[in-house]
Amino acid sequence: MALRDILTVPDPILKKVSARVDMVDDALRALMDDMLETMYDAPGIGLAAIQVGVPKRVIVMDLAREDEPPAPRCFVNPEILWASEETAPYEEGCLSVPEIYDEVERPARVKLRYTTYQGETVEEDAEGLFAVCIQHEMDHLEGVLFIDHLSRLKREQAVKKVKKQAKAA
Ligand code: NI
Repeated sequence: MALRDILTVPDPILKKVSARVDMVDDALRALMDDMLETMYDAPGIGLAAIQVGVPKRVIVMDLAREDEPPAPRCFVNPEILWASEETAPYEEGCLSVPEIYDEVERPARVKLRYTTYQGETVEEDAEGLFAVCIQHEMDHLEGVLFIDHLSRLKREQAVKKVKKQAKAA
């Protein structure tokens, strides 16, 4: 396993639309292992492959609390089959937009279909933090960041702040 570099705004690669994965093979599992290691190291709770520069429809996530054992999860080619009309606000952050947090409103519950690390295709309902996180990560697959849901002014301020941090680092 290896740590990968996480791209930050305004890197244009983050705007790319990711391609579907044909098959879950050892090479893809190696990518998912690297993504999990990179996410834990950051630390973060979710990461899309495009954030490490790989335009594939792959997401990793771990929503376990600090007092719980790790619960790594992988989502290949995730699709939203249904979304509730009811929405819920959540203060989101993103490893590609470090140290910026703002409220985004999304459907409160969604029904998903995705392929697992083992290559099995399953359906699952998501609510709460899981629903927030999977929708945030699935936006990355379309080249959309959570700051794209904010006003233009807030988005521009966020990008400016991240650029300034990167220069100072
Ligand atoms: Ni993100």
